[in-house]
Amino acid sequence: LCGADELAVVSLPSYACQRHTPLLHHNTVLIDALSILAENAELSENEGRGVAFRRAGALLKSLPQEIRRVEQLRGQPCLGDHSLRVIKEVLEDGVCCEVETTKESRQFKAMKALTGIFGVGAKTADRWFREGIHTPSDLQRSGHNLNRAQRAGVQYYDDLNQPVRKAEADAIGLIVEKAVSEVLPGAKITLIGGFRRGKETGHDVDFLITHPEEGREEGLMAKVVSWLEAQGFLLYHKTTRNSYLESKDGPARPPSNMDRFERCFSIFRLTREESSMLSQCSGSRSWMAVRVDMVVSPYSQFAFALLGWTGSKLFERELRRWAVHERAMTLSSHTLYDSTKRQYLRANSEEEIFALLGLEYIPPCGRNA
Ligand code: CTP
Ligand code: MN
Ligand code: MN
Ligand code: MN
Repeated sequence: LCGADELAVVSLPSYACQRHTPLLHHNTVLIDALSILAENAELSENEGRGVAFRRAGALLKSLPQEIRRVEQLRGQPCLGDHSLRVIKEVLEDGVCCEVETTKESRQFKAMKALTGIFGVGAKTADRWFREGIHTPSDLQRSGHNLNRAQRAGVQYYDDLNQPVRKAEADAIGLIVEKAVSEVLPGAKITLIGGFRRGKETGHDVDFLITHPEEGREEGLMAKVVSWLEAQGFLLYHKTTRNSYLESKDGPARPPSNMDRFERCFSIFRLTREESSMLSQCSGSRSWMAVRVDMVVSPYSQFAFALLGWTGSKLFERELRRWAVHERAMTLSSHTLYDSTKRQYLRANSEEEIFALLGLEYIPPCGRNA
């Protein structure tokens, strides 16, 4: 006879895109520990190691119950020796040495603080760290030449490191909606990213814009940005034009992980008037800086763009991995290519894409891997 703790959990499928990963789960302490190691690997540009810890964490997020003994995980996929060691230690001792050491390390703290600056990636942060720069203040004192994105990142550091709440995302949604309808009536916007997955906070707000008449969306981003700028909504923006060259029967180049939609990475100035819930503005300030990403897709690619930009990042990676390894297909935010049939597969909805991939449909709230 075995107690409730011993009850075997049914083995889950190994790809995150084959299972539901809810926002709220039962193993937060274990997942937090694995996330620290994942983050540290990513900041050290050890992508493979980062992915391994992320996959282990996502598996735990999918479990229907709290794990109390490591034996309960027997037969589960995605759990490598290292992850299992961490899980065992946390279950037995309450903490894992490696995780605690990592959290306290000067390098990890500095890398987090520096990559917390908009426009600063792991490479740059690492270079600065080795020069003795550990904080944004050190950076300002150093007199380093910063690019435009990084200058904005330093200037709005505090605001941009506050979580964005749903109410603020909705307020920005109304502004973007107004901008889009002013410059191109009939165009529609969709909230994507973490908020579409049901998150209550995020590090930014993401929107996908399209128009039901193919071609009408061309040049739309520049117009939207001009309108927003004229109205004083933009503190920073960088627009990248569409570089997707479609030939008669598909992309001229094979789709890569990085999509080529017209996009804008921006920082909005959100005022008290627009959002009645700006309690996080400090003191007398009546506005806050918020990171906003906007992407424009042609209508024919909308379903792929929606799937590709809803995330999570790990869920997207798992979808692409499933497509390649299990279906000999290449999935991007533009199309799905079937290598066996040597043709591009069209789809009008996310449901159709899952079906083409031979997967059960997972709604956005189940994609929080
Ligand atoms: N994305 C992308 N290309 C980029 C940046 C992001 O395709 N250059 C996609 C990611 O794959 C992800 C989605 O956009 O699926 C949202 O990315 P991001 O805003 O970074 O993450 P969220 O899941 O929205 O998390 P957060 O709440 O922290 O913003
Ligand atoms: Mn986001
Ligand atoms: Mn993020
Ligand atoms: Mn984003």
